[in-house]
Amino acid sequence: MRGPRPPGPLRVLVVGHTAELGGAELALVRLCAALRQDAAGVDVRAALLADGPLVALLEDAGTPVRVVAADPALVTAARGTLTTPSAGALRRVAAAARTVVALRRVVRAARPDVVHTTTLKADVLGLVAAWTCRVPVVWHVHDRVAPDYLPPAVVRVLRAVARRGPRAVVANSRATAATLPGVRDLTVAYPGFAPEQARPAPPGPPSGRPRVVGLLGRLSPTKGQLELVRATPAVLAHHPDVVVRLVGAPAFGAEGYAREVEAEVRRLGLEGRVELAGFAADPAAVLDSLALCVHASPVPEPFGQVVVEAMVRGVPVVATDAGGVPEILRAADPPLGRLVPPGDPQALADAIVAVLDDPRAAHDVAARAHAVALARFSVAETARTVSAVWRRAARPAPARRRRPVPAPPRTA
Ligand code: GLC
Repeated sequence: MRGPRPPGPLRVLVVGHTAELGGAELALVRLCAALRQDAAGVDVRAALLADGPLVALLEDAGTPVRVVAADPALVTAARGTLTTPSAGALRRVAAAARTVVALRRVVRAARPDVVHTTTLKADVLGLVAAWTCRVPVVWHVHDRVAPDYLPPAVVRVLRAVARRGPRAVVANSRATAATLPGVRDLTVAYPGFAPEQARPAPPGPPSGRPRVVGLLGRLSPTKGQLELVRATPAVLAHHPDVVVRLVGAPAFGAEGYAREVEAEVRRLGLEGRVELAGFAADPAAVLDSLALCVHASPVPEPFGQVVVEAMVRGVPVVATDAGGVPEILRAADPPLGRLVPPGDPQALADAIVAVLDDPRAAHDVAARAHAVALARFSVAETARTVSAVWRRAARPAPARRRRPVPAPPRTA
């Protein structure tokens, strides 16, 4: 399929495996919307391996979507099961092969200059489909490819493929990039906030009661709702009027974890003090109602875009100090929010209490955080960085060096 590219915009086919709304998917919607506003001359289309709410969001952002329905066993398989031999493994391999064949058809019809994959499963399936159509691939990695985040066998395979397969890799933070050793063309593009997510100026400290401490994010063991529930009794001991609100629904098979969180709320007698508020269609409105936004991930978070979302609303932040989060909050000295060690409910409680004790000081920090986030994390910047990677990747590959052919012996 490669040859001189026809004139016109750069054609990009985005491939993702899920149409549920996780952080990576929301980041993709914002990126697509920003590219539409930009005169960057990029024509983006998407192929998703499942149907769901992401389809409508992408289309509203001006990105036409093709759903290439893969076997649900493949789409929902937990990352750990993908490399484990089991009865279902053969079925998944067959399903993967069928999906690659279907994806190849979409790639051929779209004739993209670049295939851009946005989830780990799509990275692998999209790579095979695009390779066999001789289209260069850019991986957009939103997960830390590390054994504290993914099963070690998956880490080994992904790291090896990342070095050789994609023409370029985009990582959502330096922390994520550091988990991909040996990748030659590796660029960090922080997922930026969209203009409508930001307040033009930070608000003053909230005056209403009760004061609400919120955690926004899908319910997942990696997001730390359980740790915040466990920190709550120590917070209530100092501030008995506080309400803790967990905003988000379980996704990617985390229903069991959601039940565990509910059971912990009951066990600690926190009914009425901890609210499980479910999915919120308007996270900005939720953030505006908070005295404080908590980011409690017990494992190093790849980036942590909700931290930026809180900053651009002028809301004080308490967050765990690992992964991409310190890249956001330590962008200034002193830091732009309170950082605590991951997986430590007591430290989390102490930091929350400190913010609630002195709302004026917390809002001075939040005002600095607001200014820094506006300057540093706009999605327009993300779009510029990612489209520059696409342009580089779309250039014809440098010709492979041939072994010099020995000159024929001269005859006199
Ligand atoms: C994933 C990561 C999260 C990041 C988001 C956008 O959801 O877990 O840390 O903020 O992608 O890159």
